Amino acid sequence: MVRVDQAGEYGATRIYAGQLAVLRANCAEAKLIARMAAQEQRHLNRFNHLMAERRVRPTALQPLWNVAGFALGAATALMSEEAALACTDAVETEIDKHYSSQLAELGSDDPELASDIAEFQADELEHRDSARAAGATNAAGYPLLTAAIRAGCRVAIGLSKHI
Ligand SMILES: [Fe+2]
Ligand SMILES: [Fe+2]
Repeated sequence: MVRVDQAGEYGATRIYAGQLAVLRANCAEAKLIARMAAQEQRHLNRFNHLMAERRVRPTALQPLWNVAGFALGAATALMSEEAALACTDAVETEIDKHYSSQLAELGSDDPELASDIAEFQADELEHRDSARAAGATNAAGYPLLTAAIRAGCRVAIGLSKHI
């Protein structure tokens, strides 16, 4: 769980880095994304710490998530500001489901990890809702775009669990 979660939070920081590299620095979307990116960095720092403490091997796919995350962020930001927000909407929808299933699986087995996951899940839901409130659903091709990104997230989660 720590491996896949660390990979996911790492990917999130790379997506936002790609978007911030493309978006105009002071537009409203960039400000919102910069705020969310700071939270992703906090999530990642926590999983990095847990990973070291619990001697968990990081995913071997980290170099792939570095490039793929940045590319996804940059590509969506190049489409439009709304598409960048739709990317957050889609990613956070999958991460919310992922964290819910982990919390269900953990039950009362690991309260330390469960409390981090529950806290981060609340942040991710807030990111999703903020992205929608800021216009994500107005992105051209929103249903197809978000479905494709969500499918990609599910593949990334599946791979990072094992590799
Ligand atoms: Fe996160
Ligand atoms: Fe997030």
